[in-house]
Amino acid sequence: MAKHKSPARPAPTLQEQLPELREGQSVALLQELHILTREGKLNQDTRRKLKQVYHLVQFIEPLLAEVLAARGDVTLADHGAGKSYLGFILYDLFFKSKTVGRVIGVETRAELVAKSRALAAKLGFERMDFLATTVQEALTHPGLPARIDVVTALHACDTATDDAIAFGLAKHASHMVLVPCCQAEVAGVLRQHKALSLSRSPLAELWRHPLHTREFGSQITNVLRCLQLEASGYSVTVTELVGWEHSMKNELILARRMADDRHGARERARQRLTQVLDELGLPELQSRFAVDSGASPVTA
Ligand SMILES: C[S@@+](CC[C@H](N)C(=O)[O-])C[C@H]1O[C@@H](n2cnc3c(N)ncnc32)[C@H](O)[C@@H]1O
Repeated sequence: MAKHKSPARPAPTLQEQLPELREGQSVALLQELHILTREGKLNQDTRRKLKQVYHLVQFIEPLLAEVLAARGDVTLADHGAGKSYLGFILYDLFFKSKTVGRVIGVETRAELVAKSRALAAKLGFERMDFLATTVQEALTHPGLPARIDVVTALHACDTATDDAIAFGLAKHASHMVLVPCCQAEVAGVLRQHKALSLSRSPLAELWRHPLHTREFGSQITNVLRCLQLEASGYSVTVTELVGWEHSMKNELILARRMADDRHGARERARQRLTQVLDELGLPELQSRFAVDSGASPVTA
């Protein structure tokens, strides 16, 4: 019996490979970011990054639209921008079709900033700027406007997330979108005072073993960040960025600046923050989680 060759399956289209791809999205950008190969195929190595960024974009776009509708302009600062995947994709999907709005990437590594600047110029993304500076220095950087509406920090290393929060508080940002990286500072202080803490409270068992010190330190850091934000007048939602299979660092903190202080929520959070720091033997970290007590009204 003659063997029939089954017809070769057609290569999957780009839309099939990447269902999140939107109409009008720049294929040139995805190639420049090495998300697509020169042949237009999805690069499996950057697929995970893309999934994270797309997932984050779903949360950020409505916030940008909300600020834009309220005040006719919107500025976003992305801290620890790295190669600026997030900034570029947001610009392509949201800002490109508008005549206003600005994206600023803050990144310490000058070579990454130079590359991002060159790419923005090549693609004609005129309202994108990049600063080769630290998040701390960005606070007083003359190249940054006094008003920043949306602050993002995706896996900004160690305490850079804390600096991004301090930046957002100082700029009275309407929204902060944070995916923290591991933070070593709190775990370090827990470790330093471990013997004393164990003699004082059985709860110190939570961080007695070195692995637990690191994990508990990481978790409590995010708890303290949330209290800091709430005490500074933000409502906070904590959720997952993507499934655990994609990344161990997938906690997403969404903070929205509230127009008023409902039922003394700020003061309650401030007290809780102090109590938690005291209970855990971390009062020396009070300044790390400094609360913004300025009650400037929200105009966006
Ligand atoms: C893990 S990468 C994440 C990059 C990007 N946000 C992403 O998700 O693809 C962290 C980046 O933060 C930068 N960084 C670390 N500390 C920083 C600081 N204090 N100020 C600005 N950038 C910082 C690093 O150079 C690095 O590029």
